[in-house]
Amino acid sequence: MASLMLSGAQNLTLFTNRIPNGLGFTSSSGLHGKPLPILRFIAPTNRVRTLNCSVSSSRPTSQPRFIQHKKEAFWFYRFLSIVYDHVINPGHWTEDMRDDALEPADLNDRNMLVVDVGGGTGFTTLGIVKHVDSNNVTILDQSPHQLAKAKQKKPLKDCKIVEGDAEDLPFLTDYADRYVSAGSIEYWPDPQRGIKEAYRVLKLGGKACLIGPVHPTFWLSRFFADVWMLFPKEEEYVEWFEKAGFKDVQLKRIGPKWYRGVRRHGLIMGCSVTGVKPASGDSPLQLGPKEEDVEKPVNPFVLLLRFALGALAATWFVLVPIYMWLKDQVVPKGQPI
Ligand SMILES: C[S@@+](CC[C@H](N)C(=O)[O-])C[C@H]1O[C@@H](n2cnc3c(N)ncnc32)[C@H](O)[C@@H]1O
Repeated sequence: MASLMLSGAQNLTLFTNRIPNGLGFTSSSGLHGKPLPILRFIAPTNRVRTLNCSVSSSRPTSQPRFIQHKKEAFWFYRFLSIVYDHVINPGHWTEDMRDDALEPADLNDRNMLVVDVGGGTGFTTLGIVKHVDSNNVTILDQSPHQLAKAKQKKPLKDCKIVEGDAEDLPFLTDYADRYVSAGSIEYWPDPQRGIKEAYRVLKLGGKACLIGPVHPTFWLSRFFADVWMLFPKEEEYVEWFEKAGFKDVQLKRIGPKWYRGVRRHGLIMGCSVTGVKPASGDSPLQLGPKEEDVEKPVNPFVLLLRFALGALAATWFVLVPIYMWLKDQVVPKGQPI
């Protein structure tokens, strides 16, 4: 039912099971220090809101998103991996956010097989191995430079470390109990394909937990986000999960505490989306050939230009958390910022 409601640009029906006053997709939720809401799409009842939105699948050619490409992302992380743990985590992806985002993954058995896709330097994996034995966890990433950092982390020394592509996972069908991916979807040229892969590699009853950015509503932040990479809308995540075949799809909002729930600038780590695999085997969704063939040669000048423009746009999102932190210091507690 829900997937029917979510195809194409059309009215969406949103159910919120912990709704503060006036919560909407684009408004600030003002929840300093309190858990952010879990959103769920269901059939219409008298507790629903209806809103218009457009839903996309893979990156349209008209959309720049200069680093939503595998090669540009590779080079981006060639450099960012040097400072990743010192720059990204304090500003965008803190330990308490990570633990909050992993909570809906139900990592409730130390013997579970878990894959952490786009696992990078292993920051999210460090949250996973609190609940699951590390020798049951595989970290996959397309960047050997990011993985080299994960290898150096003591609690991850027993994890399997694999170089690979999120859109073409080197795991058997019905392999894992949990699929986790944090902050990686924004670089995938075809996010629907990556989520279809999440479905395939999970066992019957297994759960996917995908943590990712949310689209800004403030015009300047939206401009820089759209130049940089993919910041999906919340309803897009739900659509991709449902199209892949997941059931019980839920979306939980997350964000740094000092944002006081503000979401208008978008968030690089803005929500945690979960879904359960209801039947064994591959996803029922059929897709054509891959969006981006990494084997194909690319014009190095175009690659460099895209990389430079994308990286430039990304610097805006270094400034935004600093600005929000300053506002949080100045504006009296309890007031919206
Ligand atoms: C923002 S980092 C997130 C790292 C880690 N999950 C964390 O929580 O800190 C994004 C990671 O996704 C990886 N990545 C991007 N595109 C990918 C793809 N198509 N397949 C696998 N990994 C990818 C990047 O190399 C990078 O390490």
